[in-house]
Amino acid sequence: MFFFIVFFACLAPSPVKSQNALPQKINVIILAGQSNMAGQGGVSYDAATNNITWDGVVPEQCQPNPSILRLSVNLTWVEAREPLHADIDATKVNGIGPGMPFANEVLTRDPSFGTVGLVPCAIGGTNISQWQKGESLYQQLMRRATTAVQGGGVYAAMLWYQGESDTWIKEEAELYKGRLTKFFTDFRSDLQAPSLPIFQVALASGEGPYVEIVREAQLGLNLSNVQCVDAKGLPLLEPDRLHLTSTAQVTLGQKLADAFLRYNQSNINLSSNNASTKSFSCFLFCLLIVLWMNLVYKS
Ligand SMILES: *[C@@H]1O[C@H](CO)[C@@H](O)[C@H](O)[C@H]1NC(C)=O
Ligand SMILES: *[C@@H]1O[C@H](CO)[C@@H](O)[C@H](O)[C@H]1NC(C)=O
Ligand SMILES: *[C@@H]1O[C@H](CO)[C@@H](O)[C@H](O)[C@H]1NC(C)=O
Ligand SMILES: *[C@@H]1O[C@H](CO)[C@@H](O)[C@H](O)[C@H]1NC(C)=O
Ligand SMILES: *[C@@H]1O[C@H](CO)[C@@H](O)[C@H](O)[C@H]1NC(C)=O
Ligand SMILES: *[C@@H]1O[C@H](CO)[C@@H](O)[C@H](O)[C@H]1NC(C)=O
Ligand SMILES: *[C@@H]1O[C@H](CO)[C@@H](O)[C@H](O)[C@H]1NC(C)=O
Repeated sequence: MFFFIVFFACLAPSPVKSQNALPQKINVIILAGQSNMAGQGGVSYDAATNNITWDGVVPEQCQPNPSILRLSVNLTWVEAREPLHADIDATKVNGIGPGMPFANEVLTRDPSFGTVGLVPCAIGGTNISQWQKGESLYQQLMRRATTAVQGGGVYAAMLWYQGESDTWIKEEAELYKGRLTKFFTDFRSDLQAPSLPIFQVALASGEGPYVEIVREAQLGLNLSNVQCVDAKGLPLLEPDRLHLTSTAQVTLGQKLADAFLRYNQSNINLSSNNASTKSFSCFLFCLLIVLWMNLVYKS
């Protein structure tokens, strides 16, 4: 009899799983960096009229989904739609970026994932110095990220794609690694999420000649829970050769989702409360002791 009780107690679902199933929980994904994170897929420049326009074409993988939300510029959750950064990088014309294909891929491959809360924060043309702690972009990033978890959200990851503007001067490109490390470290520390998973993109292009120095920094960054996804070789818009096409952004979003899901699977405490796992194990252990003492006492 007692063994049956223990057997069923072990079969009972762990609190970790039931907590993940709460529909109100928003899995917060922070999107930051410069224009290729904001998204320029489908944007073109007409030299004759000086017009910059987005073609309005939304690939199937970037379509809205009721389970994908977006934190708007006024800090409210709305259903996410392309262009994700329209009200954030508001002085520019935005198009398709990696955020929507990332979210759709995660939900397709893990239907139990729950709600994705995208927090767009990227600003085109920005360099790594402008993202350092104390700068206005950092403050805005902090404010949006902390607001996103109010009311039950949890940090799931940050996706970071930046560095094209740090390829002009060799000495500056050589400082990229240190500046990026400091930015990630400060941000995690200020968020009080020291193991926040970060998925950064190694450059596909750059504004200046020192792209390889920045790429080496990105690919060689040695920080825990920071993974690098390489965008090199993905198709670029003509004639600028700087921005990823919509098709390239879909591929990148899916690569990021792939890295995220693989990471998520191997880190069960990513967004779950491991304290409750521990107390549950403790409870089981105590139950066994009591049952064992009971048996000993009776015999
Ligand atoms: C773009 O160019 C056309 C002319 O080709 C013009 O009519 C229009 O006002 C311009 N601006 C925008 C935002 O489309
Ligand atoms: C905030 O933004 C959303 C969408 O952009 C809009 O629907 C809503 O009315 C805005 N709220 C305020 C208070 O401005
Ligand atoms: C970064 O950009 C800012 C603003 O455009 C500029 O003032 C600064 O010199 C740039 N820093 C580097 C290292 O390129
Ligand atoms: C990365 O850092 C760890 C310690 O933080 C160190 O043990 C390891 O050798 C480093 N790896 C590389 C490739 O630098
Ligand atoms: C990944 O983490 C989320 C919570 O952030 C969880 O709901 C989901 O089940 C996890 N998926 C996998 C494949 O581990
Ligand atoms: C999961 O927990 C272990 C130990 O508690 C810790 O070492 C690891 O960094 C955690 N992983 C994440 C993603 O928080
Ligand atoms: C998991 O446990 C470790 C150590 O017990 C703790 O530092 C960490 O914050 C916990 N993570 C979560 C998500 O509760």
